[in-house]
Amino acid sequence: MSITILAIESSCDETSASVCVDGKIISNFIANQTVHEKYGGVVPELASRAHIQNIVPVVDTALSSANCHLSAIDAIAFTQAPGLIGSLLVGAQFAKSLSLALDKPLIAVHHMQAHILANLIADDKPSFPFLCLTVSGGHTQIVLAKAPLDLKVIGETIDDAAGEAFDKTAKLLGLPYPGGPLIDKYAQLGDPFKFKFAEPQIPELNFSFSGLKTSVLYFLQKQEHGFIENNLNDLCASVQFTIINILMKKLKKAVDQTGVKQVCIAGGVSANSGLRKALQQMGEKYGWQTFIPSFEYCTDNAAMIAITAYYKFLAEEFSSLDVSPTARAEW
Ligand code: KG4
Ligand code: ZN
Repeated sequence: MSITILAIESSCDETSASVCVDGKIISNFIANQTVHEKYGGVVPELASRAHIQNIVPVVDTALSSANCHLSAIDAIAFTQAPGLIGSLLVGAQFAKSLSLALDKPLIAVHHMQAHILANLIADDKPSFPFLCLTVSGGHTQIVLAKAPLDLKVIGETIDDAAGEAFDKTAKLLGLPYPGGPLIDKYAQLGDPFKFKFAEPQIPELNFSFSGLKTSVLYFLQKQEHGFIENNLNDLCASVQFTIINILMKKLKKAVDQTGVKQVCIAGGVSANSGLRKALQQMGEKYGWQTFIPSFEYCTDNAAMIAITAYYKFLAEEFSSLDVSPTARAEW
């Protein structure tokens, strides 16, 4: 018997649905919300409203492009946490309603675990155990994955996430939200050694990024009018280089401590071309086997929810209809 899962992701500002059959992603449709651009960040109420508008057409599109009828679905998965509560509620209520109407089991998925398991979508996937550096807009973690559902956080940020470091410095440089992809774009034309920004000394496998934002702010305050415009590429390259350096040093420490040499990255920031290159180079230098999800599975997407739900289905980890979404969730 094959297992067909319909998954929904709505934790922040992307509405996404995916169909997965026996652990293979058949469709993954993502509706981005452009309504936030003029506000310089995601506006939670507007995100919830956009999810309400998007959810039916997004699910319809994911089903039809997979050539799949609702009657073929064996389980409905959704992102339960963490995220914006209003956004999570839209996906959760939709998934619960479908589960009740179709009389099919419900699977609640943790968004950060799903980012990691996005590495299991490709044919060329890591075997267990592996390490994963998860870098998103809200989280920065190093996770030791012993099995699909046995994931342990061994290091994390004590303040801002890596994605926030990109977005907040981008804002200081006058770039619109989300600034991460723009820093990536301009950095490709700049000199990463032009400006030096301090790297924090944080114990263990933990990270800190709030100091970087402050150090960029103070540096820019000392400059003359027009400095940013004249040095944008070099500024982006130098900021990006600093963030990647901080991440890579801790990842190397994690490999040395655990002896695990299969290394993945995940989350929105893993779409960064400099980070992807840096991981590959570290792999070649130290003999690691490295894995990076394809771009569409780095930023928020329902395919990663579907693949996680597939492993939960196999383990019979189903949820009852009274499961509630939560904005914050430890694991
Ligand atoms: O995983 P994600 O889509 O959403 C969260 O769960 O947070 O990550 C979004 C973050 C944002 O901070 C965005 O600026 C960053 O990922 N991001 C990038 C790139 N693409 C997305 N940061 C740097 N370079 C990129 N190419
Ligand atoms: Zn995410």
